[in-house]
Order: sequence, then C-alpha cells, then structure tokens
Amino acid sequence: MNEHGVLNKAKMEYGADRPKAANPVKIMDVTLRDGHQSLFATRGRTEDMIPVAEMMDEIGFWATETWGGATFDTMHRFLNEDPWERIRTLKRYMKKTPFSMLLRAQNLVGYRNYADDLAYAFVERAAENGMDIFRTFDALNDYRNFETVVSAIKKCDKHFQGCICYSLTEARMGGNVYDLKYFENKAIALKDMGADSICIKDMAGLIAPYDAYDLVKTIKEAVDIPVLLHSHFTSGMASMTHLKAIEAGVDILDTCMSPYAYRTSHPAVEPLVMSLLGTDRDTGFDINALAEVNEIFERDILPKYKHLLSDNKMSVIDINVLLHQTPGGMLSNLVNQLKEMDALDKIDEVYKELPRVRKELGQIPLVTPTSQIVGTQTVNNVLFDDENERYKMITGQVKDLCYGLYGKTAVPIDPKIQKKALKGYDRGETPITCRPAEVLEAELPKAKADVKGLAVDLDDEILYAIFPVTGKKFLKWKYGKEEAPADTKGKTLEEVKAQDELVKKALEGKLVDKTDIGTGPQRTDHLRKFNVFVENDYFEVEVDEIGGPPVVNIAGMQAAAPAPAVSAIPAAPVAAAPAAPAPSAPATTPAPAANTNGGTSLKAPMPGMIVNYSKNVGDSVEKGDIVVILEAMKMENALPAPTSGTIKAINFASGDSVAKDADLCVIG
Ligand code: CO
Repeated sequence: MNEHGVLNKAKMEYGADRPKAANPVKIMDVTLRDGHQSLFATRGRTEDMIPVAEMMDEIGFWATETWGGATFDTMHRFLNEDPWERIRTLKRYMKKTPFSMLLRAQNLVGYRNYADDLAYAFVERAAENGMDIFRTFDALNDYRNFETVVSAIKKCDKHFQGCICYSLTEARMGGNVYDLKYFENKAIALKDMGADSICIKDMAGLIAPYDAYDLVKTIKEAVDIPVLLHSHFTSGMASMTHLKAIEAGVDILDTCMSPYAYRTSHPAVEPLVMSLLGTDRDTGFDINALAEVNEIFERDILPKYKHLLSDNKMSVIDINVLLHQTPGGMLSNLVNQLKEMDALDKIDEVYKELPRVRKELGQIPLVTPTSQIVGTQTVNNVLFDDENERYKMITGQVKDLCYGLYGKTAVPIDPKIQKKALKGYDRGETPITCRPAEVLEAELPKAKADVKGLAVDLDDEILYAIFPVTGKKFLKWKYGKEEAPADTKGKTLEEVKAQDELVKKALEGKLVDKTDIGTGPQRTDHLRKFNVFVENDYFEVEVDEIGGPPVVNIAGMQAAAPAPAVSAIPAAPVAAAPAAPAPSAPATTPAPAANTNGGTSLKAPMPGMIVNYSKNVGDSVEKGDIVVILEAMKMENALPAPTSGTIKAINFASGDSVAKDADLCVIG
C-alpha cells in the first residue's frame, strides 16, 4: 500500500462514521467568545467568524459560545459593531448548534448590579435575538442575584446553566471557605433554582486534576443534572484536569479550536478527540473536519489578530496563577495598569497586598467584576497609601461592595474598612443585607428618556442603559450622527501582509532613508499609509504599490526633522517581535493648554476616561467635594477637590480619555 493509501485509511478511522460511544463526552466550543476574549482582547469581529461558522455548525458541538462576557462591551466600544447584530448574523450561518452566552447574572454584561427591569428586559431581548443557553454566574456566588434573570430565562423557555465560580484561598481545594462542602451546597442550590445544567467555572485555571475528580464526583452524586467543566489553561493544568473530570463522569467540557487554545484560553478540542477515540466516551467528532476549520483560522483570520497576542514570554503557562491563585487576565490587567502609571517596579508589592485586600473585602472569588474591583483597589492602595493611612483612594465599586450592592461576601468584610468606605456614601452608611436589586430603582425609563431621538429600538436603549458613556457614542456612530474613529476598523489581510513585508525589509536593512528619496522614483497617487509596530517602536510607512522604495518615519516626528537612519530599527527577529501595546485604549484627548491662572488644578491621578463632572464652571466647592468621576480599568474613581474655591475651568467632557496628570479642572 502506498503512502497515500495509508493516509486514506487513517482518514476513515478518524472520520465521523465510526461506531458511536456509549456515553460520549459532549463539547461546548468557546472559540467565538472566550477564545478570542482570552487571547485577543475580545477583539474578534463578526466578519471573521462567518467564514468558519457553517463548518463549525457541522462538527456536532453540544453548544457554541458566541456572546456575552466582554463581547458586548468591546464590540460597541472598540469595533463599532452592534452586539445584538452578532447573534442574528451568526444564527443565519449556524442553524443546528445551540448558542450559549455568558451572563453575569444581575451584572448582565457589565460591571455592576443593574435594576430588575433592565435585567429582565436584557434576557428577553437576548433570547429573542437567538440565544439558547444562558450560562449564568455571580461573582460572589450569591444566587439571590440569579432570581430575576432566571425568571426571565425560564419564561422564555431557554436553558438555564447555573455556574459555581471556583475559587481558592490556598494552593488546593479546602481550607475554611472553599471546600468540597461549599461547592456541593452551591450545586444543590442551583438545582433547587431549576438549573438545567451546572457549570464549574474555573476562570483562573486553579482547579487541580484530583480536586476536579472529587468535585465532579461529589456534584454528580448530589444532583441529577448534567455537569460541565469550564477550566482555563492559564496554569497548565486544564488538560490533565479534563481527563480526571471525564473519569469522574463529567458530562460536558469546554474547549477551543486549537488556534484559539491554550495560554489563558482553554485546552484544544483536537487532542481530546484523539485521546478519547475508540473509548466509551469518544466524542464522535471528525478530526479532519476540525482540521479544515483550523486551516481557515490560521490562514485567513488569525494574521489579523496576532498583534494582540501581547504577552512576549516564551512560556505558554503562567505559574503566577499557581503561586498567587489569581486569574491570569487579572494579573495582566494589573501589569498594564502599573505600566500606565510608570510603576511596574511595584508589582511585588501588588502581589503582597492583593490577598490582604481580598481577605479584607470578604474573601470573594476573583472573576469579573470582582477581579477588577479587588485588583484596582489593590493598585490604588499600593500607589496612594502611606504608613499612616490605608485605603486612601477607595473606588466607587468597593464602596458599592461594602454597602452590599454586589451581594453577600463569602466571609464578612473587615468592619473598619467597610465603615471608612461608606462614610458619606450616597445610598447611606448602613450596609444592606437584602437581595441587592431590591434597593435599585427601575433604570429603563430614565435610559429611554436619555436617548430619545437617538435610540431606535429597545436593543439600543438597553445598550445605552448598560454602557451610558460608550453606548451613547456608539449609537451616534451607528446612526451616522458622528463618524466612528478610524481605529474601530479592522485590519485586512492585505494590510497585514504589506506590514509583514515592510518589517522584514526594514530588518534586512533594505528600506531607504527619506533623505535618499530625491534619487528614487517619483511618488504616485497610489501611495497608501500603514502603521507598523515593532517592539515598542511605531513606524508610519507610506507604500507605493508601483514599486517605489517605502519611506519610513518615526511617528510623531516633525516633518522637518531628518528621518532616522534605517539602522535605528531594532534588529529583533520578526517572528519574535511582539506587537506594541495593543491599541486597545483610544488615543487620549490632548489637554487644552494648561491655563491655571494661578488656580489649583485637579490632576488625573491615573490615566482613564471621564465619566462625568459633578460640578460646573462657576460652582463653588469645598476641599474634599467630589468634582469628577474618572473611570480607570473599568472602575470608577471619585476625585475630590484638592482645595476650596470656585471652579474656573473644566478641561474635558464626558467620554474623553485623559492621560495621567492631565489638568481635569481648575479651582481658583
Ligand atoms: Co472563561
């Protein structure tokens, strides 16, 4: 038999026509949500999902995760895409496989608890737009926060998957909070709420294989509904954990297509299919069909996103997760935040402070939004506290947490910190113990009034209600009231190829200096501009397709300044050249010429986005009055007046991005 014949035989054996297993492991594919959220900053565009959608629909996944989590936020904020439209579009290409979304319970797809009217309407609209499975979690595992959304899911006759956020306080399961009993009780509570399935949500990749075995076995014995394991690869354990979970009888596993797998994402599906081949838990998937999908991802789609793979470490795993029990995404957020503040040298202090802050705030699980809440507060403490005073700058969200607005914490919050956080808190200084949404006033009527004349339907209004600042901006782009910035457009494959070619030429020293252009060919009308990122340098390149030598300028240099010699380009190998920091943050709005006129300016203590000013020009303020709310790392910081006086100038508007030390307003 020739080599070709052997290959054909192999194809038959791996094909989907092999005998069906007694109890196949079911697979939920999370490539189109968690995959690109984990690896590519949630920047996946709908147009880049369409080429594989029909093929993925044929694989036989139990479900495919297409929505929720951070997608709603990034789509409207950075991609100029209507999040609702994604469900409807993908549904046209994927008619067989149920769609799943990640729903942050009463937090919906945002970062705080929303009122019941908004929560109910959101679920109804998601179901109506095509969502089938609602994977629901609460960051505190406080299932009172499930009540409203679950009643909507049930009313729409959709699948309610209840999550248990997996958390640890020490290296392995156990200790005095997160032990087997804790998780078993949560599973029973979910079943009692009418869960159609239970998801062990291990967002940080903390669950060790033998703990997973015990956990799955215990939950399977306690409840009679399907159990699913969602375990990120971050620490490197997840593939081993999958196998032990299968031995313990897990029903469904989350995986990614291999180009979107591993690192902080999930184990790949292909090795699992092969590992189970011919066993009584064989998935039945056709590995050749999976390979065909991967080919398209690798060739046509991923080149457009590779610049977002920002981590430049050789290791695909992050042992910090094993050392600090902290989600990988949270760690990279902390690092970025410190970088923006020029304080990366404080990272060890942050590692030390983090478990302390978490404990003081009630030993809560670390998952969106609590990972941001604890993380940002930790950074604030490290940067702004001194030996006399801790918690000098408390974020609005920590105040909400202390008030009880997120729900009940695993252990009580440190009373001293709670008291400090609630001093002058606008809802009152005594924390609540009821279901948080009970104290929230209906939100939709006001949202509807706010965007009257701009929003066209309920979906628009809900988007605005959840994200007032960026949502309003998006609606203006959507309806042509404002032009969307150029950086909301995706790269084309042609642009990526042209950039790669230029970087290669630059590294080979084949680009000519601008001063030599006099002797080269004339520029033509076909000249196009590209941005090229190499390490931390950024080049603006003009490309003339007729064959003229490209011209390299360091972006930001004055036109009159001589262009740098080509040797100034760092001689890093192309393949290893990580992208410059992902262009995630929009360009900061330049501050108007500082004109303090002898007044005192309120400076931004950190880079961020202006949410709003609570004072106007001419208002008088007392020292300590809150003047502006600044959003940094998705947390709101209330900035007080540094002195008493009158507001002389307000230099920015709601929605503006500002740099650290920008003069936000002047008090005289
Ligand atoms: Co996840």
